[in-house]
Amino acid sequence: MNIQVYGSASKAGVAVAQVFAAQIIRDPFSVLGLATGSTPLPTYEAMVELYKAGIVDFSTVRTFNLDEYVGISREHEQSYYSFMFEHLFSQINIDPAHVQVPNPVSENLDEDCIAYDAAIDDAGGIDLQLLGIGHNGHIAFNEPGDLFTYGTHIVELSKSTIEANKRFFASADEVPKKAMTMGIGTIMKAREIVLVASGKDKAQAVATMILGEIDPLCPASALLLHPQVTVFLDADAASLLH
Ligand code: PGA
Repeated sequence: MNIQVYGSASKAGVAVAQVFAAQIIRDPFSVLGLATGSTPLPTYEAMVELYKAGIVDFSTVRTFNLDEYVGISREHEQSYYSFMFEHLFSQINIDPAHVQVPNPVSENLDEDCIAYDAAIDDAGGIDLQLLGIGHNGHIAFNEPGDLFTYGTHIVELSKSTIEANKRFFASADEVPKKAMTMGIGTIMKAREIVLVASGKDKAQAVATMILGEIDPLCPASALLLHPQVTVFLDADAASLLH
């Protein structure tokens, strides 16, 4: 695991956007794995700047998002589908037909999950996956548990995740209780992974991931087994690494 520490979250975001730009320039047909949340915002801002500067062309890129809430529509302003269009897709020249966000709406959600993994495989697999990390060490919505999960699946969100995400809703009661998420196995299949964390509140999760045991109680610790992971931190998120 390669670790890079930057003076600020925005500097880390620029560095991550440059990694994505390099990937797209190397292979304009790249398959990218994308994330939502507050952490990737500086990265997406920097990607938009790179696009506007004529440095990156997203027209043939395909993307798969990590996760989506169950029980709210795509049009809901807090859906991850809406998030991606607001913060990235509407500001770059990506073809909307090339973007996929989990869409857990059918009668049989397990079938939606199987279809999502199959779509990633059909696209040739993910070349470069962007991740954040939750306070409890989750990646995507893979919450601490007894086992590292395999494929895309439906999860009950943990109390701490609902607590962390209530800032986007009128109250904790309105945060959906379930989500569809890529599994740890889905994420580990990506050829290269970039994890970003910023802020003091992420320092413990980052330290547990990097310095602790490989343990499903810290889902992000699975990344220690992946040969191609770079962790981009601001100084606050790195403050418990010695
Ligand atoms: P955040 O979420 O970027 O909003 O802190 C990250 C995560 O929970 O994976």
